[in-house]
Amino acid sequence: MSLQYGRPMVATPGPSVIPESVLAAMGRSMPNIYGGELLEVSDSVFADLKQLVGTEGNVYITIDNGHGAWGMSVTNTLSPGDKVLVLESGRFAIGWGESAVPLGVEIEVLMAPERGAIDPAAVEQRLRADVDGEIKAILAVQIDTASSVMNDIASIRAAIDAAGHDGLFMVDCIASLACVPYEMDAWGVDLTVGAAQKGLMVPPGVAFVWAGPKALDAHATAGLRTSHWDWKSRRLDEAHYVRFDGTPPVSHIYAMRAALDLLSEEGLDRVYHRHTVLGGAVRAAVEAWSTPGGLELNIVDPAARSNAVTTILSNSIDADRLREMCAEQAGLWLGVGIGEYADTSFRIGHMGHLNPPMILGTLGTVEAALIAMDAPFGESGVAAAAAHIATALS
Ligand SMILES: Cc1ncc(COP(=O)(O)O)c(C=O)c1O
Repeated sequence: MSLQYGRPMVATPGPSVIPESVLAAMGRSMPNIYGGELLEVSDSVFADLKQLVGTEGNVYITIDNGHGAWGMSVTNTLSPGDKVLVLESGRFAIGWGESAVPLGVEIEVLMAPERGAIDPAAVEQRLRADVDGEIKAILAVQIDTASSVMNDIASIRAAIDAAGHDGLFMVDCIASLACVPYEMDAWGVDLTVGAAQKGLMVPPGVAFVWAGPKALDAHATAGLRTSHWDWKSRRLDEAHYVRFDGTPPVSHIYAMRAALDLLSEEGLDRVYHRHTVLGGAVRAAVEAWSTPGGLELNIVDPAARSNAVTTILSNSIDADRLREMCAEQAGLWLGVGIGEYADTSFRIGHMGHLNPPMILGTLGTVEAALIAMDAPFGESGVAAAAAHIATALS
């Protein structure tokens, strides 16, 4: 019998749980979009978004999902026939690269070791061999939501520098934004893409591209520019109608203000610490459940496991049945496996507006479903997660 009739729990890796204050901010009636308070709120959002990723560069907001931010990034910096090196470690760097292929961009894929992070030494080696400078840009994802790996962006930058390569370094922090530290300027990233619906705790619909000096230089000669996405000066204009190249996403602007206020109230260091503890709790649970032929963490190196999402290999356990039982009978939505992990995994998102009861409730429900399915597992994951969280309580 279904027990799902309470508040449902969304444990997918985005869209994530939306805080009440963000939802309430979206419920406002429409203001004047040509003057007054909205412009001040919007200005403050632009400023805070730059701070969030640690850049003095420009930020552009596009009324889009993450794919739209990918489009804006590529069309403003590349030309038909340009080649990019895709550093693939799951599904999303390749997705970004593939989105540029119909525009005439050529992609070359450098794979991370299986179930691991991008190897900076392999990046250096490939770029050293590019003696004619054919590679115009290098694409990487900080946290790949399919594999749940966390790549070391600063080390990849160091590898690019060691090879003496001057391709644009472009990073997708869509799944990592406001979950783990990200320092665009300090790490030497030329362009970053992000989106609202994960760690930023805002419904899907707005996405971001941050551009540093080298990306802005590339824009001057980029042959793929479109009318709407172009970083023309109007996109930084005082007049907000033209800043968004049309009507501003009013409700999302208020939502972002409310979400950024929550982040600043908590303090980014604490936000990252909370994600570390809750991500650790999920991993502790999976390790306790692990048994030969049963559940297993996908990412092998503990240092490369992300604090935003965990991909769990299901092996002999029917992941679809587990997810369906959690959703239909208990009100818990788990993430499906995607890309090469489809059918053989499920994912738990632990990004954004979450606390111990939400994570322990999620893990307890998964454990109940494992018991109900008579699936093999080792120890209680809930007990392991509670013990892990206990170390952070004082
Ligand atoms: C790392 C990463 N990049 C890009 C995307 C694509 O974003 P969207 O689905 O909003 O287009 C996702 C979506 O999950 C993602 O996790």
